[in-house]
Amino acid sequence: MSGLHGLVTGALGKLDPEDAHGVAIAALKAGLGPRAEARDPTLAVDLAGLALPNAVGLAAGFDKNAEVGPAMLAAGFGFVECGTVTPLPQPGNPRPRLFRLTEDRAVINRLGFNNAGLEAFAANLARPRRGVLGANIGANKDAADRIGDYVTGLKRLWGLADYFTVNVSSPNTPGLRDLQQGEALAELLGRVAEARAALPGHAPVFLKAAPDLDEPAIEQICDAVATHGLDGAVVSNTTLSRPDDLRSASRGEAGGLSGAPLMALATRVLGLFRQAAAGRFPLIGVGGIASGADAYAKIRAGARAVQLYSALVFAGPGLVLEIRRDLAARLKADGFASVADAVGTA
Ligand SMILES: Cc1cc2nc3c(=O)[nH]c(=O)nc-3n(C[C@H](O)[C@H](O)[C@H](O)COP(=O)(O)O)c2cc1C
Repeated sequence: MSGLHGLVTGALGKLDPEDAHGVAIAALKAGLGPRAEARDPTLAVDLAGLALPNAVGLAAGFDKNAEVGPAMLAAGFGFVECGTVTPLPQPGNPRPRLFRLTEDRAVINRLGFNNAGLEAFAANLARPRRGVLGANIGANKDAADRIGDYVTGLKRLWGLADYFTVNVSSPNTPGLRDLQQGEALAELLGRVAEARAALPGHAPVFLKAAPDLDEPAIEQICDAVATHGLDGAVVSNTTLSRPDDLRSASRGEAGGLSGAPLMALATRVLGLFRQAAAGRFPLIGVGGIASGADAYAKIRAGARAVQLYSALVFAGPGLVLEIRRDLAARLKADGFASVADAVGTA
């Protein structure tokens, strides 16, 4: 990290983390973000029909209201996932609810889907842009019909988002993760698939999973994704687990842990998804990526594309270009002409 963006990232690190995020979003909206060409011949990949100019994406939660998607695409991300958005605006949990674990290069959040709702999100997505923007959709905390909220999100944003991610893996909406299993999962994916079939045109729909799942649960999720014709899985969201070796003062806070300490767990779970998916659909690897080596490990474990968020808190948005350069060099050094050639070769 160097230059102006490095200085700014350093200064933001002294603010309350949620205030710092607000400043970062305002700066990006004002056009102050870094700029990098998105296309990279080695890293370009087809993901479920989406032509990604490079395989390194921005994970959900950074841009909850779809305010800075175009700015982050311009910073060099190959795709940007906005949201999670819920049908109605909601405030989320009381502050403080976002914690930097600086010594551990990690974050704990219990935001609870704070967002401005579907109408604001749709208005933002309707602005002109270049590149692939996805919508990560969720349910309001107090919804009478939680599954209905996903259908509402899909319908409202159809034609505005390039792809959709059904997020059932946030640990911060009580009971939400129950939608990852059994009858509830079958009903959710069935209703989403039915709604999509009735809409004109096509957009891929992915399911975003937690890392806190055992093998039978992962097999059940993969079978449900394939049965209902979804287009892939995003692995993974934050973890409720706490590795023993966390050092930061905030390690005991409630919420989902992300960043470096999630890398090993999320990559192991990604490998289990690869086995269970057995080539039926592609995977997007996320959780703990802070370097080209981390991104490469996800691809070797089975990811066709990757996403990151927490590492940006410590390194700033210029990190994406560093990761891309290093990833491309690693692919070439191992004799892979493209990301697609390296998927699942671990
Ligand atoms: C502050 C914060 C907010 C997040 N909000 C969401 C969200 O709204 N929806 C979602 O699917 N994931 C959300 N995530 C999870 C990330 O998309 C990602 O899956 C997770 O952080 C692991 O990646 P990372 O280690 O690169 O951050 C959030 C993560 C953080 C740190």
